Amino acid sequence: MAFQSPEFTPDPEPLHQRQSLSPVESTLLIPLAARAHGERLFPGMALNDASAAATLARLQADVSCFLEDTLSVYGVLSRTRLIRELAHDFFVRHPQGWGVNLGCGLSAYFQWLDQGRNHWLDADLPHVMQLRHELLPLLGPRHHQASVDLCAPHWWQALGLPQGAHGRPVLVILEGVLMYFKACEVEAVLREFATHAPPGSELVCDTLSWMAMGAAARHPSVCHTRAQFHWGPRCLADFTRAHPRLHLKAEHPVLEGYHPASDWMCAAFRAVWGVPVYGVVQLALKD
Ligand SMILES: C[S@@+](CC[C@H](N)C(=O)[O-])C[C@H]1O[C@@H](n2cnc3c(N)ncnc32)[C@H](O)[C@@H]1O
Repeated sequence: MAFQSPEFTPDPEPLHQRQSLSPVESTLLIPLAARAHGERLFPGMALNDASAAATLARLQADVSCFLEDTLSVYGVLSRTRLIRELAHDFFVRHPQGWGVNLGCGLSAYFQWLDQGRNHWLDADLPHVMQLRHELLPLLGPRHHQASVDLCAPHWWQALGLPQGAHGRPVLVILEGVLMYFKACEVEAVLREFATHAPPGSELVCDTLSWMAMGAAARHPSVCHTRAQFHWGPRCLADFTRAHPRLHLKAEHPVLEGYHPASDWMCAAFRAVWGVPVYGVVQLALKD
């Protein structure tokens, strides 16, 4: 379905019920809406995501409430452009490497990142993967899909990902996922990556500060899904303390350029609290 006009009255039935998705699963509609229609609001941030528009059309979901939250739309476009760039750079360095999008929702990075010899795995909870099977075709023999529950143990081996000193490097993407996990679950996910990933592997995730914990009802997009924020870093060491191999490679701003007032607010927040209010971090392995 198409972008609704501002006069459109949203159906009072929660989105996740209409789509039979759980609250956290239904958060996938937020980035999908932004990628499908966000460039109408921010032409300079266009992604040319043909997949998102087609997927949303087939889903027939009303996403007008998400498009009213222009800061989140901007954040999704900005983080998608950044992650796409970081992944492209990773595959230049590791042409036969793996990209693994954990909690992939209905995103479609491989449309941009097939560089001839690299592999790509999209993985999410079983219900979401069932939806993906219906909506999104695989893009060739090096494109893979699998169900995973990242809160269950041993998911790296269950997904059959490369491991050990001679395995192909893996780029793990966790986008819009970790803020819905409890602190112990985040630590276990990072430890699983650091324990098994071959040398040269990296992990990229977005990060929402601890101040948002428990406050999803006040988030203008997430409130429509009834999901909750359970985790946010209090310091950047929260990303690396799970395992001695983990190393913070870079921190990237995401909301910069939305508005001078939000630029100032983000910079002030970072200076006072030592973590971004919202941003992307890139972890590498010390090998
Ligand atoms: C905000 S959406 C982000 C989707 C996608 N990464 C994107 O940016 O379009 C959060 C996703 O995390 C997934 N997720 C939540 N808990 C999960 C878990 N325990 N294991 C795997 N995926 C999970 C949800 O199903 C949902 O697709």
